[in-house]
Amino acid sequence: MASKARLPVSKILGMGHYLPSRILTNFDFEKMVDTSDQWIVERTGIRERHIAAPEEAASDLAAEAGRRALADADLDPKELDLIVVCTVTPDQPLPATAMFVQRVIGARSDCPAFDLVAACAGFIYGLSVADSFIRTEQARCVLVVGVEMLSRIIDYEDRSTSVLFGDGAGAAVVGPASGDGSGLVSTHIYADGAMAEALYIPAGGSRLPASEQTVEERLHYVRMTGQDVFKFAVKRLSSATKTAISSNGLSVRDIDWVIPHQANLRIIDAVSQRSGIPRDRFYINIERVGNTSSASIPIALDEAVKAGTIEEGQNVIFCALGGGITWGSALVRW
Ligand code: COA
Repeated sequence: MASKARLPVSKILGMGHYLPSRILTNFDFEKMVDTSDQWIVERTGIRERHIAAPEEAASDLAAEAGRRALADADLDPKELDLIVVCTVTPDQPLPATAMFVQRVIGARSDCPAFDLVAACAGFIYGLSVADSFIRTEQARCVLVVGVEMLSRIIDYEDRSTSVLFGDGAGAAVVGPASGDGSGLVSTHIYADGAMAEALYIPAGGSRLPASEQTVEERLHYVRMTGQDVFKFAVKRLSSATKTAISSNGLSVRDIDWVIPHQANLRIIDAVSQRSGIPRDRFYINIERVGNTSSASIPIALDEAVKAGTIEEGQNVIFCALGGGITWGSALVRW
């Protein structure tokens, strides 16, 4: 699904992120599974990731990132018209994590709020929803949070998945564009259910409810066919990135920055090659945070903006792919 190229109607007014203080390094993993710092760095680019404290839940991370984004936008939480929390690691199955976020940040008690499950593409899906609500005048200001506590759903006995993921939250306040051409120019979101079992958690839902057996068989943890996801990611992220450029009548030269989902450095290298966008225009923080799924883009974006790396007037592409398989891209004129 694509939004048409046109003058932006919505804009990111403020950003915030939160990373738990505990850090798990590759050297820590060497003591847990049969792996090495060298293998992980060479095959993924990851050196360390943040892990939430036992008493923290997704909404705690999300609310902190949300508060920071609201402060950055200089917006009172009561001015929010919608809260979208993108996550595959909710506090609990019911109610939505967005309810706890609404309560904790002090939004209006009737502010609509819901969770959105699009895995690592969650933030791009969330931006697309926010833009649509603003475009159709159902909302003026929307809080979009990407939050994941992947440490809670990872099998720490499985070296092929455990080393990849980390915890964190990133948030954006999306509001009306100012009419100067800056803002959210386009979003393109996609999904392919034929690939559902390439990255999934078998149990814990209505198909295979939690039981002693599902726990024994470790069916509540993430399972992934890494090579399939890798190949699909390179192909789809490259095409979604190219679409963000061509659908807006731009060329590669017009793109100042790409904030890619931080899943694997080799995927990012391949997307750079295939899309023709030079590698030095990709913002990378994977070595410090690992794959934080839906939180990955807003964390990286917030870092890049606060560091002054991304400047006013620049064209920035976001691209992500995750379990589903879901994927997408967005073009923002900063
Ligand atoms: N340390 C050491 N060896 C490891 C390892 C680890 N952490 N993880 C896997 N291996 C081993 C495998 O067991 C395999 O050993 P074998 O040849 O004896 O069977 C070998 O390394 C090669 O495995 P393979 O799966 O081919 O490695 P790879 O180069 O494809 O890298 C991933 C594995 C997971 C890093 C890679 O496939 C990947 O990044 N895929 C995409 C994952 C992703 O981004 N998912 C999220 C999308 S949002």
